[in-house]
Amino acid sequence: MKRVITYGTFDLLHYGHINLLRRARALGDYLIVALSTDEFNSNAKNKKTYFSYADRKMMVESIRYVDLVIPEENWEQKRNDIRLYQVDVFVMGDDWAGKFDFLKEEGAEVIYLPRTPEISTTQIKNDLKHLILPR
Ligand code: CTP
Repeated sequence: MKRVITYGTFDLLHYGHINLLRRARALGDYLIVALSTDEFNSNAKNKKTYFSYADRKMMVESIRYVDLVIPEENWEQKRNDIRLYQVDVFVMGDDWAGKFDFLKEEGAEVIYLPRTPEISTTQIKNDLKHLILPR
């Protein structure tokens, strides 16, 4: 059983998220998503989510590519998660390229997947704020 893990906020779930999760799951047999809590978002990432942790968790758990959702509560937990969940592959979007290479020390493969172009939670929020209608 090859276990894969990825981290993120996944607020206002969109097709860029689904693309990422589908490709992450295809790298193994079991996908764990460490979902940023509301406290971690506001304290460390300076993000105020539209949907609460509980609602985001329910949605991410409903995705067919996702096997388990755990809370992401701080920047330092990754090494421990890799050990605890016996993770083989650590995956992030390439907006994080190079940032987590040190996790190879834990024996995990570290992979950065290309982001889906032209979509992000920030973009959706901005477009709605300025009432830009869908293409
Ligand atoms: N992601 C992606 N393609 C996109 C948007 C996000 O592959 N177009 C990936 C990110 O690289 C990350 C995961 O999805 O690995 C979760 O990203 P998150 O930061 O929650 O989503 P964003 O839409 O990037 O949100 P924000 O604009 O708030 O940064």
